[in-house]
Amino acid sequence: MSPSFLSSTAFFFIVILYLGLCHVSHGTQQATYIVHMGKSQMPLSFDHHSLWYDSSLRSVSESAEMLYTYKNAIHGFATRLTPQEANSLMTRPGVISVQPEQRYELHTTRTPLFLGLDVHNSGLFPETGPSSNVVVGVLDTGVWPESKSFSDAGYGPIPPTWKGGCDPGTRFTASLCNRKLIGARFFVRGYEAINGPVDESKESKSPRDDEGHGTHTASTAAGSIVEGANLLGFANGTARGIGYGARVAAYKVCWRTGCFTSDILAGIDKAIEDNVNVLSISLSGRRTGYTDDVAIGAFAAMEKGIFVSCSAGNNGPFPSSVANVAPWITTVGAGTLDRDFPALAILGNGKKYTGVSLFRGDALPPKMLPFVYAGNASNNATYGKYCFPGTLIPDKVKGKIVMCEKGRSANVEKGEVVKAAGGLGMILPNTAFDGEELLADAFMLLATTVGKKAGDIIRHYTLTDPNPTASIVIQGTVVNVQPSPVLAAFSSRGPNPITPNILKPDLIAPGVNILAAWTGAVGPSGLDSDTRRVEFNIISGTSMSCPHVSGLAALLKSVHPEWSPAAIRSALMTTAYNTYKDGKPILDVLTLKPSTPFGHGAGHVSPATAVSPGLIYDLTRVDYIGFLCAMNYNSSLIKIISRGNYACDASKTYSVADLNYPSFAVNVNGSDTYKYTRTVTNVGGAGSYSVKVTSETTAVKISVEPAVLNFEEVNEKKSYAVTFTVDSSKPSESNSFGSIEWSDGKHVVASPVAISWT
Ligand SMILES: *[C@@H]1O[C@H](CO)[C@@H](O)[C@H](O)[C@H]1NC(C)=O
Ligand SMILES: *[C@@H]1O[C@H](CO)[C@@H](O)[C@H](O)[C@H]1NC(C)=O
Ligand SMILES: *[C@@H]1O[C@H](CO)[C@@H](O)[C@H](O)[C@H]1NC(C)=O
Ligand SMILES: *[C@@H]1O[C@H](CO)[C@@H](O)[C@H](O)[C@H]1NC(C)=O
Ligand SMILES: *[C@@H]1O[C@H](CO)[C@@H](O)[C@H](O)[C@H]1NC(C)=O
Repeated sequence: MSPSFLSSTAFFFIVILYLGLCHVSHGTQQATYIVHMGKSQMPLSFDHHSLWYDSSLRSVSESAEMLYTYKNAIHGFATRLTPQEANSLMTRPGVISVQPEQRYELHTTRTPLFLGLDVHNSGLFPETGPSSNVVVGVLDTGVWPESKSFSDAGYGPIPPTWKGGCDPGTRFTASLCNRKLIGARFFVRGYEAINGPVDESKESKSPRDDEGHGTHTASTAAGSIVEGANLLGFANGTARGIGYGARVAAYKVCWRTGCFTSDILAGIDKAIEDNVNVLSISLSGRRTGYTDDVAIGAFAAMEKGIFVSCSAGNNGPFPSSVANVAPWITTVGAGTLDRDFPALAILGNGKKYTGVSLFRGDALPPKMLPFVYAGNASNNATYGKYCFPGTLIPDKVKGKIVMCEKGRSANVEKGEVVKAAGGLGMILPNTAFDGEELLADAFMLLATTVGKKAGDIIRHYTLTDPNPTASIVIQGTVVNVQPSPVLAAFSSRGPNPITPNILKPDLIAPGVNILAAWTGAVGPSGLDSDTRRVEFNIISGTSMSCPHVSGLAALLKSVHPEWSPAAIRSALMTTAYNTYKDGKPILDVLTLKPSTPFGHGAGHVSPATAVSPGLIYDLTRVDYIGFLCAMNYNSSLIKIISRGNYACDASKTYSVADLNYPSFAVNVNGSDTYKYTRTVTNVGGAGSYSVKVTSETTAVKISVEPAVLNFEEVNEKKSYAVTFTVDSSKPSESNSFGSIEWSDGKHVVASPVAISWT
């Protein structure tokens, strides 16, 4: 990542550094470790695994605090140890691994704000609710139970299979749960081990969401229907979660300084025990592999039939930036809706540029105001142009519109800085990294965010005109914006950094300017100085697209309770679309050129067709273990992921190319031909499916054998082989794309093909 890109998340990094210092000043070199135990190796002398775990821990430290013992997500525990103690614990019998925990971040874009609900696709899906027995578990910042999005009016009894509950704590009693919000728990020991006791005046030590993100994601996935939902009048309409018939269980694992994996694993552990059907996880670490804590916990969830959807991350547009790439996780990128919040930047030379804004307040007098570049109104050569706190000179800003650059602080905070210095408005241009992507912010000052092209022209004007002036006009909400969707610039991209032969992300869903429920604890900008309180907020990120897919999975699960997590993902992927109604390919907002499967995976989710996909690509835990064997994972890694339940068969040949995934990625590494196999299961009626392949370039030839698959009955399986013949001499970093589609005339079962040369 380049420094200027990092600047957009500078907030977080400052917090991390600060944390690091605190940690040292506590005078301890202890850290939190996740310890994986080989449960089958437990000596007979112990009655219970927790006694054995405790005894193993005591053998290296008398005083070490046992933070959690896990029984579902992993076999093992979390504890505080010095590095020496960790090393010595590693040598104890039955200990498979001792790894430091990781710190994860929420996947909202670039600013610390969030919220939204969306009625896109409403009416297309068969009526399944309310009162479906499907439960969506959301691992996040908790929940604001008073939100109308968690009203249980019209919902039937709590599903009989539900074993969860509501944990009381600060500003939260168990009676706040109801037939909609049926679970609410919090996991704080890992956080407190690092930060000390929660300051309950600032943060609720309970499932209550003081942040907004968790309320937003939970209501997006499965919020109840709310009429007249809007943010300060923007996006007014009926809000409803995608799987609004389903029930919600909130697992609060994220706190003021982040989400620690000892707490996340505890949340997954409990969610499995509680019997959730879907887990929605809109967060990740810096780089996540198949053996990171969330991937391991997700494996256990998948084995229990729980669909796990995760955000792909907001590190686009950089290649190989996609996170949460384990093949048993559904990895969700973000696209736009057909709705926008235009705000004009008008210059003294008469030119007008359309930006975006969620500012609601007094408009400017209808005249042009003096306009100044922040870098020319500042006491600080480096930070001034970013309108960093304390850098603007009030005398040079007062009564003016100020142009600030993105980066180093949150967009909404820049508005606050301009306002504090006496400025009347702000124009904020995009950088090269977000191009023409317009993400809306709930500014506390009249402001508009403009695309990079307009920004460059406006900057040139303010720097060269002898007497620059400007005005800003907020235009409200417009719908039916075309083209839509377009791939979000921030949405993390493939190729898959760990296994380039498995395509990630899997698909995209709405993640830009999404309206959903919000916490009552902070205003829509998330700033401390923001005293506004709103029931709904509009925020962006793959954090927002992930719960759309979680909600869709809940819908599919209620229609097809027997479908495995892989079957649900397959249905969503093979029916996704990647062209507009006119047949032209979906665009990437960054380049305004066609997006590729490295950006959108199989395409944008299409709820109406996903219900009836025709064929599915199914996968079981044994297939995933075969995949890990193909990756040459050693026995201890396989034991960690499978909790000791599986091993590779030395007599068998394993290949990543045979993992029954609904998409195809081929990494060209010397050879001219690559052979993949797949098996499809019929979930429709009898039918004869014929294949159609497309390849964008002559450098790739795709052949499928057999070319016709005949199905007589439901659940019948048929296999086919694909041979990719490529020009292996193409330069490295070349890509080529295509598709493999099966159709019986009624269903189209489409898989994307992505070829990359290394
Ligand atoms: C939102 O829409 C509803 C229904 O059309 C209307 O009654 C209400 O006044 C609107 N609210 C705002 C703030 O525009
Ligand atoms: C304004 O800032 C620009 C860019 O930082 C600089 O080139 C220019 O000289 C400044 N103008 C004045 C009048 O200070
Ligand atoms: C500019 O601001 C930054 C951030 O507040 C600060 O670290 C730096 O010392 C300032 N530089 C000058 C020259 O004032
Ligand atoms: C298994 O692989 C991991 C990661 O490469 C390594 O740390 C570990 O030592 C290996 N274990 C064994 C028993 O070879
Ligand atoms: C190419 O990649 C495949 C699949 O990962 C691997 O089996 C093969 O050994 C690689 N070949 C070369 C020449 O690196």
